[in-house]
Amino acid sequence: MVSPADVLLFHAWLFIILLVQAMAAERSTYIVHMNVSGMPKAFSDHHQWYSAIIRSLSKSTKVSPNLLYSYENVMHGFSAVLSGEELQALKQLQSFLFVHQDKEVTVDTTHTYEFLSLNLNSGLWPESNFGENVIIGMIDSGVRPESGSFVDNGMPQVPKRWKGKCEDGEDFNSSMCNRKLIGARYFNKGVIAANPGVNITMNSARDTMGHGTHTSSTAAGNYASADFFGYAPGVARGIAPRASLAMYKVLWEEGRYASDVLAGMDQAIADGVDVISISMGYDGVELYEDPIAIASFAAMEKGIIVSSSAGNYGPDLSSLHNGIPWVLTVAAGTVDRKFSGTMELGNGQSIIGTTMYPENALIVDVQLVYNKTISACNSSSLLSSAAEGSIVICDNTVEAWEQVHYVTESTAGGAVLITNDTESVYHFRCPAILVTPKAGKTLIKYAKKQPQRYYYNEVQANIIGHKPAPAVASYSSRGPSPNYPGVLKPDILAPGNNILAAWSPVSPSAAIGNALIASEYNIISGTSMACPHASGVAALLKAAHPSWSPAAIRSAMMTSASVLDNTHKPIRDIGTNFGYASPLALGAGHVDPNKALDPGLVYDASPQDYVNMLCASNYTHKQMSMITRSSTAFHCSKPSTDLNYPSFIAIFNNSMHYSRTFGRTVTNVGDGPVIYKVTVMAPVGISVVVQPELLVFKEKYEKQSYKVYLKARSKGKEAAYGSLVWVDDKGKYTVRSPLVVLF
Ligand SMILES: *[C@@H]1O[C@H](CO)[C@@H](O)[C@H](O)[C@H]1NC(C)=O
Ligand SMILES: *[C@@H]1O[C@H](CO)[C@@H](O)[C@H](O)[C@H]1NC(C)=O
Ligand SMILES: *[C@@H]1O[C@H](CO)[C@@H](O)[C@H](O)[C@H]1NC(C)=O
Ligand SMILES: *[C@@H]1O[C@H](CO)[C@@H](O)[C@H](O)[C@H]1NC(C)=O
Ligand SMILES: *[C@@H]1O[C@H](CO)[C@@H](O)[C@H](O)[C@H]1NC(C)=O
Ligand SMILES: *[C@@H]1O[C@H](CO)[C@@H](O)[C@H](O)[C@H]1NC(C)=O
Ligand SMILES: *[C@@H]1O[C@H](CO)[C@@H](O)[C@H](O)[C@H]1NC(C)=O
Ligand SMILES: *[C@@H]1O[C@H](CO)[C@@H](O)[C@H](O)[C@H]1NC(C)=O
Repeated sequence: MVSPADVLLFHAWLFIILLVQAMAAERSTYIVHMNVSGMPKAFSDHHQWYSAIIRSLSKSTKVSPNLLYSYENVMHGFSAVLSGEELQALKQLQSFLFVHQDKEVTVDTTHTYEFLSLNLNSGLWPESNFGENVIIGMIDSGVRPESGSFVDNGMPQVPKRWKGKCEDGEDFNSSMCNRKLIGARYFNKGVIAANPGVNITMNSARDTMGHGTHTSSTAAGNYASADFFGYAPGVARGIAPRASLAMYKVLWEEGRYASDVLAGMDQAIADGVDVISISMGYDGVELYEDPIAIASFAAMEKGIIVSSSAGNYGPDLSSLHNGIPWVLTVAAGTVDRKFSGTMELGNGQSIIGTTMYPENALIVDVQLVYNKTISACNSSSLLSSAAEGSIVICDNTVEAWEQVHYVTESTAGGAVLITNDTESVYHFRCPAILVTPKAGKTLIKYAKKQPQRYYYNEVQANIIGHKPAPAVASYSSRGPSPNYPGVLKPDILAPGNNILAAWSPVSPSAAIGNALIASEYNIISGTSMACPHASGVAALLKAAHPSWSPAAIRSAMMTSASVLDNTHKPIRDIGTNFGYASPLALGAGHVDPNKALDPGLVYDASPQDYVNMLCASNYTHKQMSMITRSSTAFHCSKPSTDLNYPSFIAIFNNSMHYSRTFGRTVTNVGDGPVIYKVTVMAPVGISVVVQPELLVFKEKYEKQSYKVYLKARSKGKEAAYGSLVWVDDKGKYTVRSPLVVLF
């Protein structure tokens, strides 16, 4: 029997349990910036000092504060799990600078899980031995070391300067690294602190999601034969097949936290990587609170180029992340290979569309359903009741990716989606195909005439040489950069749609009906896939020009980028229904690795140049030092909003007079003597004057400066676009910069 006393006791227990839970819930992970010039001499290093601070905070409470990471390279400070009280005590310290709460990062694979699509034309990327002796650090979800893309055939010795290691862990031991995969480490103190008691699915650098394996093999995978259920058969390889790879696993199935991302980048810098590839970003944060901005500043100072993804929130303007002036920001484009399927109708007619259904399909004697109510394809229950086992035609009144979801959830036997964007290929569990509105019309006519019997034979095929390509993917995020609009972003377009690369088979890559199926290679889309292409090109350039700064490498890629597609017309934007793409969508253009190797001129920038820019941005001394770190001897004697960047953006937002002057300095990296002449394509309604119009170089590495005067007579419409091109007297080089005016 339960006595009243027991009940009381029970309530008391419950109360205590709730109280403990409430106290535990109050504790959060914080990232803390410290002024290290205030460190007492008694401490021999920062870590010792931070540990002592944490110990001193723990006096008052029962649960001790917990130091997660001391950061040594990316910032001065640490991350720790603290109570509100401890945080207040910490803020009283003289050397305390700033604190922000740990936050989750957005991974840029695809904006919907359905986006599985196909391979790029590797012909864009010339066969090259470059990349040797360059180390690419991947900040991602881990790696599958057994993949054929990471065997070390033909790889040189591990670079002598390498300080990293291959960490043991669950289902992963140090013997799994080799001369291709030279390092593998993992960071999950942040995710564990955020989810107390959590069981980490794979407590090692092993990839269970596939994302990190895919990005790593895209950037620097070795030659391996690959295909995806019969599509895109051939040899897969990374952009820099002889570069070394090091994985820093910071993305976990249980979460992805800034404290872990910072720890991964901190270690990558310490280990000696040359390129950091990071396919994720933080939305809606100031530069000084953005872990990637903070960490990449430290990387840039050490000559490490950081390549990052623009995000998958297009096509709206200002939807971009990683619009950080000292990183390379990469947008996603399509490639000229299409996953195609042919549908044969009962009357002998054939209709070609795009599909990625993982097998050929033959469906005989079913109904082809077209009915305005059902064909919106926005209700699974409606589809199941009205089109069970039938092939449904989905019209283009609802977004295709939504329709894919509802068709997949329904019992429809198959689907034909009518859409303007047949570039995006989706992951269907039933036979399905995407067709153009024109083909759709034919089909609807057929369905209306012969609604009874229908014969559907889908045959998979690959079409190479598809036109137009590249085009900017609809989902690719657009500039201007919300946290620093004064530098034009994104920087460059790279292949992001339908990319075949290595995968982790524990994560299913396709399905037939309810059966999930696995593969060692997968075809997916996103700016996450575009970023490692650019990282690979950056690695090739670093190998060819070891002394170039990150800014010089970025400049080479931007000024040599292509603005024309394979129909010799300007690159188009799927997000505006195939209108011409603006620099806010494609940046300087589509990356052209061959031309970037020998760009003629480069726009260089030093760490102090970025500091001058920050000095002009009204950040407080504290905010500045969160990026530049407290002990670094930068000065603010020459504040300037005019960074020496290879592109131009003027924002006439609520101004009274519409004029702007830019100053730029170019370095001749071609042979001298040489004379360059400027050509301007002025934005509509804007006058552009460049002085001088000729740049005369006597020798290699000489610098010359010029000015650009922009003027609009009156307020124009929202945006205007143009370009400024320097061409040498031998006609060898075309050094192009996009020019954007926003009103
Ligand atoms: C590491 O893995 C390899 C290959 O699976 C195995 O042969 C070796 O015994 C393992 N070493 C240790 C220390 O577990
Ligand atoms: C973790 O795993 C243990 C043992 O399997 C289990 O008892 C516990 O409930 C799990 N914890 C969580 C948070 O899932
Ligand atoms: C489906 O789309 C149609 C046409 O756009 C719309 O009228 C209807 O309300 C939508 N139904 C649902 C369930 O969203
Ligand atoms: C379309 O389908 C709906 C739902 O099954 C049904 O109510 C309606 O009668 C159909 N319309 C036509 C024209 O067949
Ligand atoms: C599809 O393209 C047609 C013709 O270019 C256009 O009129 C229509 O607005 C487009 N639809 C969408 C949803 O973009
Ligand atoms: C900085 O602040 C001043 C004065 O408030 C303002 O005029 C200027 O436009 C600001 N600069 C930037 C880059 O926001
Ligand atoms: C850090 O401390 C030093 C002296 O202790 C001071 O001069 C400097 O301004 C401080 N830095 C910041 C960002 O507060
Ligand atoms: C333009 O000004 C408005 C209002 O002052 C502001 O909200 C907006 O962010 C500005 N846009 C840019 C690109 O600076």
